[in-house]
Amino acid sequence: VVSVGFIGLVKSLLESFITHESPFLLFMVAVFVSSYYGAKRAGVLATVLAAIVSDYFFLAPYHSFVISEVGQGIQLSLFFLEGITLSLGVAKLKKMRSEAEFSRLEILRQQEQLQSLNYSLDRRVTERTEKLTEVNQKLSHIIQAQAMTENALRQSEERLHLALEASGDGIWDWKIDTGKVYLSPQWEQMLGYSLGDLPGNVNTWSNLIHPEDSHWVMEQLNAHLADHNVPYDFNYRMQTKSGDWKWIANYGKVVDHDGQGQPRRMVGIHRDIHERKQIELQIAESLREKEVLLKEVHHRVKNNLQVICSLLNLQARSLHNVQLQEQLQDSRSRIRSMALVHEKLYQSPSLSKISFVGYIGDLAQQLLRTYSRQSSQVSLNLDIDIAIELTIDTAVPCGLILQELISNTLKYAFTPSTKDGWIYLRAKALDNHLTVVYEDNGCGFPPAVDLYHPDTLGLQLVRDLVEQLHGSIEIKNTSGVIFNIAFPLSDDIEKGDI
Ligand SMILES: Nc1ncnc2c1ncn2[C@@H]1O[C@H](COP(=O)(O)OP(=O)(O)OP(=O)(O)O)[C@@H](O)[C@H]1O
Ligand SMILES: [Mg+2]
Repeated sequence: VVSVGFIGLVKSLLESFITHESPFLLFMVAVFVSSYYGAKRAGVLATVLAAIVSDYFFLAPYHSFVISEVGQGIQLSLFFLEGITLSLGVAKLKKMRSEAEFSRLEILRQQEQLQSLNYSLDRRVTERTEKLTEVNQKLSHIIQAQAMTENALRQSEERLHLALEASGDGIWDWKIDTGKVYLSPQWEQMLGYSLGDLPGNVNTWSNLIHPEDSHWVMEQLNAHLADHNVPYDFNYRMQTKSGDWKWIANYGKVVDHDGQGQPRRMVGIHRDIHERKQIELQIAESLREKEVLLKEVHHRVKNNLQVICSLLNLQARSLHNVQLQEQLQDSRSRIRSMALVHEKLYQSPSLSKISFVGYIGDLAQQLLRTYSRQSSQVSLNLDIDIAIELTIDTAVPCGLILQELISNTLKYAFTPSTKDGWIYLRAKALDNHLTVVYEDNGCGFPPAVDLYHPDTLGLQLVRDLVEQLHGSIEIKNTSGVIFNIAFPLSDDIEKGDI
């Protein structure tokens, strides 16, 4: 439509200066113009038709021409053909130009796309490079940390290895479910075997245990497997390659369990304690020998003291002076109180300490028997802490003090007719001090007795012995007598001559 309109416009312009005899020229112009513009969209054929139609409509009826001659017809046909050829050529050129333009634009567009792609590729490469650098850095940190960990592990393994080598301890690692055991070289060497001599299973170990130890060792093992709080730590004998028995200290622990909580793995060490055990056994034997010896010594001392008592007794019998006889009797009594300490000592489990209540109980009974003539009606009340134990250094002076007090009561406090006489003895240990309260309900001291500066042996001995024990004494003379004695129970009381 645009082409036709345009041709119409051109035609009317040309009509003003072209004569009626120039239709071919007009037609040519129309064909060229229409082909040039029309080819753009409608194609060459549509342009030619439009030109013919326009010629037909616009030239006729005013300038219709008639082909009167064949030559004129041929000339017109050729003219048409030339016009069409030219139109086609122009159209072809136009098309080529347009295609070239399109190609150029396409190339430009592709170049732009390529550039954009290139740019995006560059950007992605940069981004990826940055990420890769970051990953690389992280990786190198991880590798560094791993290297440090490996190094630390190597060092730790090396230390363990050196420590084990230095200690000479052997390691065992038992897979309980399979029965397989790893035995370290030291483990095997400890028993005189070379590396790999022994098969790595649990029977290897159990078969080498001393028959006397085997039963209780298995008990220990089963107890630990059943309850891991039971320590797996004991010494037993194992057979060496040469057939000898060697003392081994065994320490172990369950370190892994299966899904049902059953022990799956146990690890431990073996330590050669044979020499130490031999020395321990020697020491124990020597200690036992010394204990026997000590008992023997105490026993002999007691016997010797009893011999002295017997001698004094014999001597007393030969005397006719009653006073002298009584004095010898007192001396015998004192010696017996000391002999009793030695008797108690060799009977005591420790051989170094005796039970205070046991000793004083026996001493008092002994005195009651000795002075039975005077003491038939006297009751004895002991209130002594059973936990109190005395060493020989405390027991002898303490026994002598109480022997003086009890013998005095039995001798002087009561008359033969006294029916309700009593002795009360209380002993308590507090803050490593022993307090003894001795009391009787007798007649009390006669006024003539100087309690602070006595001139008789008995009371003097009591004061001296209390002093020797670094103790204190308080004497009350009421309706009977009361002695309050206190002294420290430390083992380092200065030993004095009694
Ligand atoms: N529990 C007592 N009740 C009454 N009088 C006592 C009591 N204890 C001691 N006496 C009196 O104190 C005196 C002094 O006692 P002490 O033990 O010092 O001497 P002794 O018993 O006479 O002789 P020895 O030196 O042989 O002990 C005794 O003679 C006695 O008269
Ligand atoms: Mg006396």
